[in-house]
Amino acid sequence: MRNTIIELKKADLTLGNQAATVHVLKGIDLEIGKGEAVGIVGPSGSGKSTLLMVLAGLERLDSGEIWINGAPLHTLSEDKLADFRGRNIGIVFQSFHLIANMTALENVAVPLELANAKNPFETARRELEAVGLGERLNHYPGQLSGGEQQRVAIARALAPSPSVLIADEPTGNLDSDTGRQIADLLFSKQAERGTTLVLVTHDPSLAARCTRQVKVRSGMLEANTVSAASVADVVPA
Ligand SMILES: Nc1ncnc2c1ncn2[C@@H]1O[C@H](COP(=O)(O)OP(=O)(O)OP(=O)(O)O)[C@@H](O)[C@H]1O
Ligand SMILES: [Mg+2]
Repeated sequence: MRNTIIELKKADLTLGNQAATVHVLKGIDLEIGKGEAVGIVGPSGSGKSTLLMVLAGLERLDSGEIWINGAPLHTLSEDKLADFRGRNIGIVFQSFHLIANMTALENVAVPLELANAKNPFETARRELEAVGLGERLNHYPGQLSGGEQQRVAIARALAPSPSVLIADEPTGNLDSDTGRQIADLLFSKQAERGTTLVLVTHDPSLAARCTRQVKVRSGMLEANTVSAASVADVVPA
């Protein structure tokens, strides 16, 4: 593949303790190109979230390789891995994961500040304006709707300009209209910035908006489908 940004080779992972071990990822090979939007689908318990955590550098493989932007994450020390994550990867979760006693502005600015970014509060304000929350900077998460909280989470994920954006059921806790708005926002930011997007979803309409769908079943990849929309882009009528 040209312009590969993410590559998994024979990725294998067992989780749990002796009483309850689960062979979650069973030798997964996957290549993702720069700027792609990949939708990971599959039944509950098939290993989708675990796969995302590996791609995010938050879970280590037992064996196999994970390369992102030319960096071998499987060989990095914890410190180097944390540093790599901060610079290269943005993450959005289903349940937002905002810090309750920080305002929207602080939720976005503080991680930038901790990473020694320049002008963290200015950047945070700009990112929140870019997701339509310029009027909600000083609201606490508890004072925001679900959709607004997810917008804060997206602003936080995008603020360090990561090359990879990872989202685990980003619309899973939202009603369908709000979910569609959040999906619109994710895809427009992705296109605008040339970010590579990898998302997990149970929503077939959201998966269909990705350039490619990857189906996980029992820790293995079942199918690799290019969406009709992206085929139409490359095959003249
Ligand atoms: N820390 C853990 N210890 C033991 N088993 C685990 C652990 N984390 C996940 N598992 C198991 O691994 C399997 C895959 O979990 P995962 O969360 O990746 O599934 P999923 O595809 O995201 O499911 P869902 O669609 O319900 O979110 C499940 O059977 C789960 O019980
Ligand atoms: Mg999951």
